[in-house]
Order: sequence, then C-alpha cells, then structure tokens
Amino acid sequence: MKTCIYPGTFDPFTTGHLDVLKRGCAIFDKVIVGLLKNSSKTPMFSLQERENFIRKAAQAEGITNFDVISFDGLLVEFAERQGASALLRGLRAVTDFEYELQMAAMNKKLKPELETMFLMTSTQYSFLSSSIVKEIGAYGGCIKGLVPEVNRLEIAERLVRQ
Ligand code: PNS
Repeated sequence: MKTCIYPGTFDPFTTGHLDVLKRGCAIFDKVIVGLLKNSSKTPMFSLQERENFIRKAAQAEGITNFDVISFDGLLVEFAERQGASALLRGLRAVTDFEYELQMAAMNKKLKPELETMFLMTSTQYSFLSSSIVKEIGAYGGCIKGLVPEVNRLEIAERLVRQ
C-alpha cells in the first residue's frame, strides 16, 4: 500500500490543488492531505473550514482514496506517523522552484527514505494561487473556476465580508 502526503496550508483549496490531488490519487493507493495547523501565514479560513472544503471538493469528484488530517510540527514526522513513503507537491512555475527545492532538500536531509514527488500543475491552473483567490474574492470579483464549484459560494461570501 503506497501512501503519500500532500501537504499545505490550503487557504483556501483551489482547483489547482484539486487537480494535483486527483492526479496523485490515480498514482498512489492513498493520498493524505496534510493540513498544516499553525502556519506562520495566519490562515484566513479556520482549520475546520479548510478541511470541509477539501473533503467536499474531493467527494464531488468521486475521489475515495484520500483523507484529510491536520498536523503540527515537522512534516517528515507526520509522514512517518502516517506510514507514508512520499510527499507530493504541485509545481506551477519557475518561481515555485527555489522554495520547493529548498524544502525537498531539507526534508530529504531529515528523513532520507522519504521521497518528494512533484506534479507539474496543469497549464490552465499555472496562474492560480490561494492568495490570488483571496484578493479577487475580497474585492467581490468572480472566483468561478478558481476554487472547486461545490465550495465557491461559501468561499466567495466569506471573502467579501472579511
Ligand atoms: O503550500 P504551502 O502552504 O506553502 O505548504 C507549506 C508546508 C506545509 C509544506 C510547509 O510549511 C511545511 O512542511 N510545514 C511543516 C513544518 C516543517 O516540516 N518545516 C520544514 C520544511 S523543510
């Protein structure tokens, strides 16, 4: 049974994240979305909201071999507790590369047997980020196609009255 961890803040979960999750679930027996609890980024959406968004979006896509588990502390230790053999990350553009390389190298140093695997984000999502969704939504702009459709209204309403 090959399990991987797809870690992140997911504030909020975008269609780009969903694309990576779906493709990861086609490769691994199980994908655990590792939702970071105490991010230095101070998330706008609560842990419970973020978890609900991910679960609803994945279920609407008919994905069954996933779970969402929040974690604190080191990612490699969380991965070990979950029995995962790999970390999964999406790569959008060269701008992501340096940060991702640093994290992958550091995680490899901490736990050499844990591989980091990257999926290139599908081109239609290469411009997309959680920050851009928050910015557009805060100004009342249309976020259709940017977040999973099942979550769109809830996210839009939250963003506009923040
Ligand atoms: O997609 P994000 O929000 O940039 O994800 C960042 C995340 C959660 C992967 C990273 O911050 C992380 O792994 N945090 C846990 C603490 C840790 O292990 N840090 C060392 C990473 S080298």
